[in-house]
Amino acid sequence: MKEDPIRVITIDGPSGSGKGALSFLLSQWMSWNVLDSGAIYRVLAYSCRSNNVDLLNENRVAELARDLKADFQTAENGEIRTIFQGFDISDIIRREESGKAASKIASMPRVREALVLQQQSFRKAPGLIADGRDMGTVVFPDAILKIFLSADESVRASRRYLQLMGKGESVSLARLRGEIELRDKRDISRKVSPLVPAEDALIIDSTNLSATEVFERVLDEVSRLKIT
Ligand code: DC
Repeated sequence: MKEDPIRVITIDGPSGSGKGALSFLLSQWMSWNVLDSGAIYRVLAYSCRSNNVDLLNENRVAELARDLKADFQTAENGEIRTIFQGFDISDIIRREESGKAASKIASMPRVREALVLQQQSFRKAPGLIADGRDMGTVVFPDAILKIFLSADESVRASRRYLQLMGKGESVSLARLRGEIELRDKRDISRKVSPLVPAEDALIIDSTNLSATEVFERVLDEVSRLKIT
């Protein structure tokens, strides 16, 4: 296979492990593009709902996936907004309900297959930071650096809780913890592209680390590998 000169750094891990914060900081620091692949699965779940497509109907969900056109625009504060069919649906797709629906459709092989090329099309100069579950194992196996973030379940649930509360979603911490547990179980145990670290991934346990500390740890690796 011909080597792609555009370099990719992948960041995989379960929800609340700090992938979003790390990809944001890294993409700003390196001035590279960013792919939030979870947002694509979330937009697809949104599209299923607005088209009355049953989340269990793999053929129909895969059909929608093949035609899915979501647009990601960077706002002035650097935040990435998700535009779908002319509407900014960023806040709607961030709800925990959307994460749950996204995880359900993400377990379907035909759906994943339909979205791979779309995710690979984000690989543009000068480079790409790709955040998700299977970025290093399936979508960008030739990435120059693969990070796998982990953290204790209770810490991840608290982080998601604070994020959702910050966005005005009122959730119970205990319920959220249960939902995250189920979502992770589904993501880890699915047959295709399960959430597992790539063999050559650098695993970082972020349980006792701040977002800045994780970022600094990754920057050490970036400079050790002479990526910039
Ligand atoms: O990262 P996130 O919470 O936005 O992702 C939502 C769901 O989408 C997650 O529970 C599993 C699925 N997903 C996936 O299967 N593969 C990816 N590369 C990204 C997300």
